[in-house]
Amino acid sequence: FLFINNEWHESCRGGKIPVYNPATGKLLCEVEEADNEDVDKAVRSARAAFEMGSLWRSMDASDRGQLLTRLADLVERDRLLLATLEALDSGKVFLMAYFVDLMATIKTLRYYGGWADKIHGKTIPVDGEYFTYTRHEPIGVCGQIIPWNFPVMMFAWKIAPALCCGNTVVIKPAEQTPLSALHMAALIKEAGFPPGVVNVVPGYGQTAGCAISHHMDIDKVAFTGSTAVGKLIQKAAGDSNLKRVTLELGGKNPNIVFADCDLEYAVEQAHSGLFFNQGQCCLAGSRVFVEEPIYKEFVRRSVEKAKSKVLGNPLLPGVDQGPQIDQKQFDKIMELIESGKREGATLECGGAVWGHPGLFIQPTVFSNVTDDMRIAKEEIFGPVQQIMCFRSVHEVIQRANTTHYGLAAGVFTSDIDKALTVSSALQAGMVWVNCYNAMSAQCPFGGFKMSGNGRELGEYALQEYTEVKAVTIKISQKNS
Ligand code: NAI
Ligand code: MG
Repeated sequence: FLFINNEWHESCRGGKIPVYNPATGKLLCEVEEADNEDVDKAVRSARAAFEMGSLWRSMDASDRGQLLTRLADLVERDRLLLATLEALDSGKVFLMAYFVDLMATIKTLRYYGGWADKIHGKTIPVDGEYFTYTRHEPIGVCGQIIPWNFPVMMFAWKIAPALCCGNTVVIKPAEQTPLSALHMAALIKEAGFPPGVVNVVPGYGQTAGCAISHHMDIDKVAFTGSTAVGKLIQKAAGDSNLKRVTLELGGKNPNIVFADCDLEYAVEQAHSGLFFNQGQCCLAGSRVFVEEPIYKEFVRRSVEKAKSKVLGNPLLPGVDQGPQIDQKQFDKIMELIESGKREGATLECGGAVWGHPGLFIQPTVFSNVTDDMRIAKEEIFGPVQQIMCFRSVHEVIQRANTTHYGLAAGVFTSDIDKALTVSSALQAGMVWVNCYNAMSAQCPFGGFKMSGNGRELGEYALQEYTEVKAVTIKISQKNS
């Protein structure tokens, strides 16, 4: 069902979304499909909840924080259930869902629960006859569109800062993975959020997603997904009401490994930095640049690591790679693997389908990759690692930045000077030195260039969910 105004609704047009388990290809269930009219209904409910004088608008900010904290507690209570839903629906490894995704979800909700009553404006000295103060007000109704690779974590990343600042939300999970979002909806009601504050509308991008991005009564849209759709979202804002837009898009992230690093550790970090979540991460370190003296050995050890991966049913312990999300992604990845072979990269291992039913791809490593190959330029979003060779600091900085993307980057070296030089020069929203994928709710997340606009998480996200109002008051001069 659709979750609107704290009630469960059938979709106006009666559409249904089939929900599959990508590990088996079996239909799990069907959920109601939101279309334009349902989005309208959800926006009306979010708008009513945002009206001045509403329960939500007049609530003490600390009570708003308390609601987020209570939601975190409920997620913690239902952690096993949510992790299971997540693994069934998206094919991600259950233990990863339980420990990584759910942990991040809980921490994000708590973190923003803490911020709710600490969002302050400023007082500003102006010309002596005036007094100015600023208010950081919520923007209004926020449309949020999220992808399938981290369904419940993305849900928390989106709603937590929005609610913390006092906005109301219409959120659309990806059509591939609506289940955890619907359970979160039930928890939102149980936590005691007033009706209309959060509305959950599973639907397809071209219908429900489009309705959100073009809506004249949505004040802000936050999107995570492909760069292509990111452009459409920004354009839709321009074509409609110039709603505020934040975008978290793709990446083709460089991971730079110098010869003076701890080799075994760097191999392991580069491996998990790419293969985590079946390679379905915008952060995936998919361009591994390795300095010449250690290149061969680095490739050898990376191949060994890739070959040792256990594929299988993501619900089983001991399995560390599940299926890709759907046929479309599967085909895209296989096509890019073929292009790598054709364009002359060395296929060190993998490169083919694994197993019987389900959408599994063998962990794949390419060496002797050059920058002009498609596998070095395009986001693959699969278990496919590209390893390139470099010879100097200057060269690698140049090559690392030669991309339209700018999300994340890694540097492995024991030389502080190299670490500082490279991390200052890289065009990326996050740079990790001697680590990869090191994230937390406190730390801003987002990209340079075509990897997006704005930042999520941390204190930085608050400004993406508030409007600044400057109030200027004339001081009476009568007594002076
Ligand atoms: P997508 O960008 O089409 O889907 C992401 C979300 O956008 C989904 O909720 C979808 O329903 C919605 N959407 C799709 N078209 C829309 C439209 N016209 N208006 C409004 N919303 C729309 O991504 P897709 O097709 O699932 O994956 C394609 C590629 O995108 C992947 O191979 C990967 O390279 C990249 N991607 C990046 C993600 C990230 O974390 N930054 C997440 C998912 C995909
Ligand atoms: Mg799509």
